[in-house]
Amino acid sequence: MSIPKTQKALFLPGKGEKLVIETTEVYTPGPGEILVRHESIGLNPADWILQETGMFIEKYPFILGLDVAGVVVKLGEGVSRFNIGDRVLRAGGFKNDMDTFQEYSVYPAEVAAKIPESLTFDQAATIPVCFDTAAIGLYQTFQPGGGAGLYPPWLEGGRNKYSGQPIVVFGGSSSLGQFTIQLAKLSGFNPIIATVSPRNFDLVKSLGATNPIDRNLPLTSIHEEIKKITSKPITIVYSTIPEPAVQEAAQGVVSPGGTLVTVGRPIPEDKRDLSKKVTHPYGSVLREDNRKFGVELYEKLSQLIESGEVKPTPVEYVAGGLGAIQEQLYRLKKGEISGRKLVVRPSETS
Ligand SMILES: NC(=O)c1ccc[n+]([C@@H]2O[C@H](COP(=O)([O-])OP(=O)(O)OC[C@H]3O[C@@H](n4cnc5c(N)ncnc54)[C@H](OP(=O)(O)O)[C@@H]3O)[C@@H](O)[C@H]2O)c1
Repeated sequence: MSIPKTQKALFLPGKGEKLVIETTEVYTPGPGEILVRHESIGLNPADWILQETGMFIEKYPFILGLDVAGVVVKLGEGVSRFNIGDRVLRAGGFKNDMDTFQEYSVYPAEVAAKIPESLTFDQAATIPVCFDTAAIGLYQTFQPGGGAGLYPPWLEGGRNKYSGQPIVVFGGSSSLGQFTIQLAKLSGFNPIIATVSPRNFDLVKSLGATNPIDRNLPLTSIHEEIKKITSKPITIVYSTIPEPAVQEAAQGVVSPGGTLVTVGRPIPEDKRDLSKKVTHPYGSVLREDNRKFGVELYEKLSQLIESGEVKPTPVEYVAGGLGAIQEQLYRLKKGEISGRKLVVRPSETS
């Protein structure tokens, strides 16, 4: 497979600046890494947040991008998990040679997964970072950046382990919410209650939500709505929406002794009910204390997708390659994306 020496990449020149296309090297995979030619790139709210805030960025110019599907074009030393030509999906790595707003990048093979035949590259690019964050939030150990410590459904004896127990997902139609619902279903949770806009009721039901609630109701009434559905204690709530008001409502729903998983910055301890645990997952399987968890997860991911138990987020394909990304990040920031994932194809970059 012929590999060029240079490629096009979308650089962030400095904090808050506009993204620009530049030429850069095509990287060499190190031991245990694969070089991937990007076919489809998924966009995330984190991309515009990092662009604006500079969070996690140590050095400019920086390449953003956290989701990709592509083809393995070169193997680093010791890689036996993949062959040249394999179709793979994986997250980004907060490093220029691993992030995804470019035509090629490298990544550790042990946290990448083969794409089953049934999925297009566009669909596969919707999965990695939100699936990882859903899984880490529910099943990783309760620790800083970890999760609720539930037993995962991909391990022996894990299917339906929480049968008959309720779970609530705030923001069920977000990409993260969609994967959380699907994992909750595999774990046997029932009812699976999710706050979403009515236009997305059918979508979340198709993924396993049993009781969608209109997210436009006043947040103060959501708990009452939940009590109409179940009288059981709610021991697990996942808030995929960072707004403090949503997080506060989500915390109000958790029963004493239960756990809130939230992507928002947790309410400080002196301002919250300490009978409820709160965890703020860090959705990267590259982080040292998530790595072992990630390796186990990525061993099972292809199978979960192939069986149809994990479905991709509905795709909104956007033409124009890397050059289209900046405008799409503005749309994400304005909250214009509902129940789907924006995907671009870098080969269309002019
Ligand atoms: N900590 C981490 O490592 C990590 C990793 C991944 C994502 N995140 C964060 O998780 C959040 C979700 O990410 P995403 O990629 O899944 O986002 P997304 O798919 O772009 O989210 C869009 C969805 O949010 C829903 N939504 C917006 N406001 C809502 C509200 N008040 N109540 C209920 N639903 C609401 C909308 O639902 P309707 O259209 O149905 O109204 C829409 O479908 C983002 O803030 C992201 O930065 C964090």
